[in-house]
Amino acid sequence: MSSGLKYFVGNWKMFGVISSFKIITKLNNFLQKDKNNKKYKIIIAPPFTLLESFSKKLKNKRIKLSSQNCFHKDGFGAYTGNISPFMIKKIGVNYTIIGHSENRDSGETDQLINEKVKLALNNNLNIILCVGENKQEKRNKKTILVLKRQLNILKKNYQLNKIIIAYEPVWSIGSGNVPSYLELKKNTLFIKAYLKRKFKFNNSKLLYGGSVDHKTINNFKAIKELDGFLIGGASKSSKKFIDIIKNFYK
Ligand code: PGA
Repeated sequence: MSSGLKYFVGNWKMFGVISSFKIITKLNNFLQKDKNNKKYKIIIAPPFTLLESFSKKLKNKRIKLSSQNCFHKDGFGAYTGNISPFMIKKIGVNYTIIGHSENRDSGETDQLINEKVKLALNNNLNIILCVGENKQEKRNKKTILVLKRQLNILKKNYQLNKIIIAYEPVWSIGSGNVPSYLELKKNTLFIKAYLKRKFKFNNSKLLYGGSVDHKTINNFKAIKELDGFLIGGASKSSKKFIDIIKNFYK
């Protein structure tokens, strides 16, 4: 049972320019006044182009930043267009999303994702590791198998307390379709039990992601084992993001 801190993570994807910081300013104003503000943490993942400037603006603020991905090689190197975990850490960012289905779709394998996880941990980054089945896998009743395969990259010697799992059914992302209560409960319990069984790790953190908005949040809050939410579309509007938090605590 997770009665601990909740996470509301905003994944901006390919969105945002410098002036989009006003969204974060509004979130910060809300956070300061909210009577529930001790119960949760807000993390925003803007694109790489904004991370360093936002990181400076958010120094000593409660809202934290995450990158949306990182490269599977570290330090510096001849890898055009890529950003290493080392470079992310250097600008004061402490989280990275790894294994988002939109990146798995463009060719990221479990092996590559494992490399990223290792390097991110080496750099003392916290990881939001995305897992989840696609439509066809769901139709073929392969969800548990897929989750097992994707979680199987984790190793005993990894600092599991630095890894937050985000269960994101691919068919739910951006579609407005969400899993039923029973489906989500089952998969949530499976992931937590798997980590417990395999690593004797009792403190795993698990987020749900996929069409989370001010309405769907009402279905999810009944699942007490969830430690929070990974929010795409609705995180680009401060009002929508705030309404999710408000409805969660209503
Ligand atoms: P969504 O995206 O909230 O727009 O469905 C979630 C995600 O891709 O992380």
